[in-house]
Amino acid sequence: MTPAADVTNKRILITGGASGIGAASAKLLASRGAKVVIADLSEEQGQNVAKEAQDNGFDVKFQKVDVTQADSVKALFAFAMKELGGLDVVVNNAGIDHKPAPMHELSDDDFDSNIAVNLKGVWHCMRASIACMAPSGGGHVINVASVAGLRSSPAISAYSASKHGVMGLTKSAAVEYARANLRFNAVCPSFIDTPMVQNTLAKLDERGQNAIIKASPLKRLGKVEEISSAIAWLASDESSFMNGHAFTLDGGMLA
Ligand SMILES: NC(=O)c1ccc[n+]([C@@H]2O[C@H](COP(=O)([O-])OP(=O)(O)OC[C@H]3O[C@@H](n4cnc5c(N)ncnc54)[C@H](O)[C@@H]3O)[C@@H](O)[C@H]2O)c1
Repeated sequence: MTPAADVTNKRILITGGASGIGAASAKLLASRGAKVVIADLSEEQGQNVAKEAQDNGFDVKFQKVDVTQADSVKALFAFAMKELGGLDVVVNNAGIDHKPAPMHELSDDDFDSNIAVNLKGVWHCMRASIACMAPSGGGHVINVASVAGLRSSPAISAYSASKHGVMGLTKSAAVEYARANLRFNAVCPSFIDTPMVQNTLAKLDERGQNAIIKASPLKRLGKVEEISSAIAWLASDESSFMNGHAFTLDGGMLA
């Protein structure tokens, strides 16, 4: 068996850690010896994920955050720095879905909410990551973007704009902070089987569901474990020459 990428004792903060990709990443990283803080708007779910991990003997703590609020993000990073004694890796994963509608039918609120969480929330956390990591010699920020950050399709304009923005932030920071030994990469999943996608599927008829489920040449949704294993590799030192990269995990959708 191939040994897993080593993340032993890595100090890792994951936003959106109460559900889906974030929760799966927290569990995998902690099971491989990382010390993890998960943060989420959803307090009860976040506490449950942390408790389940602790019951299995893993080092996972929860802190509530709203990534749209600069003060809340500041408090989160203060908590993580105190609990972990520093930060090696930050996974900016908190995100929301979008209203599926043509661009001209979106309201200001529809557009603003996507940008506030998916783009400005990531920027808040990148800014705080840089402030925490640069003085201590370096670190790695992994942003969870999307294939929608690399190309678009009909009726996803606000979400796609937010994720393209995340790619812009990732590339900008990668070239700006390399001298401070900070790396920035993004993972770009296609449709993954999480509560976010299950909510979308529940609103569609069979034809619509099949269009999503069979969007990739592998003709299935991705599994959260297929994203968390890539995040675990990125979080390890094995990814040390990767910087400013869009790590696409899409079953061949963009091929
Ligand atoms: N599931 C997919 O198919 C897919 C594909 C590409 C990209 N993504 C991205 O992956 C990330 C995780 O998505 P998921 O599918 O696991 O979704 P999910 O809904 O299961 O989890 C998202 C988490 O983010 C949290 N969150 C939302 N707003 C927040 C806020 N303001 N502050 C703090 N936490 C907040 C939610 O409470 C939730 O726990 C998102 O950024 C999403 O855009 C998902």
